[in-house]
Amino acid sequence: MSSEVRRAAQVLRAGGLVAFPTETVYGLGADAANAQAVAKLYAAKARPADHPVIVHFADATLAFAWAREVPEVAHKLAAAFWPGPLTLILKRAPRVCDFITGGQDTVGLRVPSHPVAQRLLRAFGGEGAAGRYSGIAAPSANRFGRISATTAQHVREDLGAEVDCVLEGGPSEVGIESTILDLSGGNPALLRPGAVSAEALEHALGVAVSPADSGAPRASGMLERHYAPKTRARLVPAYALDAEIAKLGARVAVLAFSRPDERVEYWLRMPREPDAYARRLYAALRELDSAECDEILIEVPPDESAWRAVRDRLQRAASRA
Ligand code: TXA
Ligand code: MG
Repeated sequence: MSSEVRRAAQVLRAGGLVAFPTETVYGLGADAANAQAVAKLYAAKARPADHPVIVHFADATLAFAWAREVPEVAHKLAAAFWPGPLTLILKRAPRVCDFITGGQDTVGLRVPSHPVAQRLLRAFGGEGAAGRYSGIAAPSANRFGRISATTAQHVREDLGAEVDCVLEGGPSEVGIESTILDLSGGNPALLRPGAVSAEALEHALGVAVSPADSGAPRASGMLERHYAPKTRARLVPAYALDAEIAKLGARVAVLAFSRPDERVEYWLRMPREPDAYARRLYAALRELDSAECDEILIEVPPDESAWRAVRDRLQRAASRA
């Protein structure tokens, strides 16, 4: 294990904050059993205290020790998708504190697959330890409501001063946040679409997954205006791009599938394949945001289930609510 990971684990045990790579986006981590460390985390992100945070573990056994009921379906999904980009919401165990759950009776659990995250979680837990250290609370390592970080450089730009240590792990493979599935109620409910699709979940479960209903716990990813660039962003169908550009001229930045238009200085061409698009998305939005144009125009991706998670993030980025 690298000395850097060992040092980061010590920082966490001492109540400090460590930003680390995961396969989805970078996380800003704190010891999930340490109230002061988690308070520091919320302050660094400028995140409201009633928003629950996901807790990360090295494996499913450690994760499920934080739930008071683990339904059979949770075991099935863990076997199929962990380690990987899926977060399960379960009823919380007594050891899980209010400062993690935002006062809710449930807790979000995730086992990330990124090798650096895995090494960090294992170093934090220690060999054969009695479990004093096991969960790392980690929201995405960006300021609240802004675009998530998919590189260590993004983290330094957003939170550099507030973080004790930033672990390098290359650009995030998935590029958008984990799928969140709520298993704490009757039917499994999809709270946030992600790389693990509703179809893949249904296939593993053998039952239908319902979309989040109004009675479901609020996830901050469900706030309308989330993942937002500073520049106003707007979704535009392909056929309308040309007319919009003609209207707005050079002061516009464009994220599209088609070739750059010479009237536009800041044009990023995106992949036509949804996983590749997701991987590229946040870095692209950050780049266009830094161009300080009047508006970002985003060509709408196809209305197909494979694009669901990407469309969800784009709609939020473009929301003015
Ligand atoms: O991919 C990810 O999930 C990343 C990486 C770092 O693991 N983390 C992430 O965390 O996206 P964050 O805090 O930015 O978003 C977590 C979402 C929030 O919308 C939060 O409200 C929701 O999970 N959440 C956490 N615990 C919950 C619970 N008990 N009930 C409902 N929603 C919960
Ligand atoms: Mg976030």
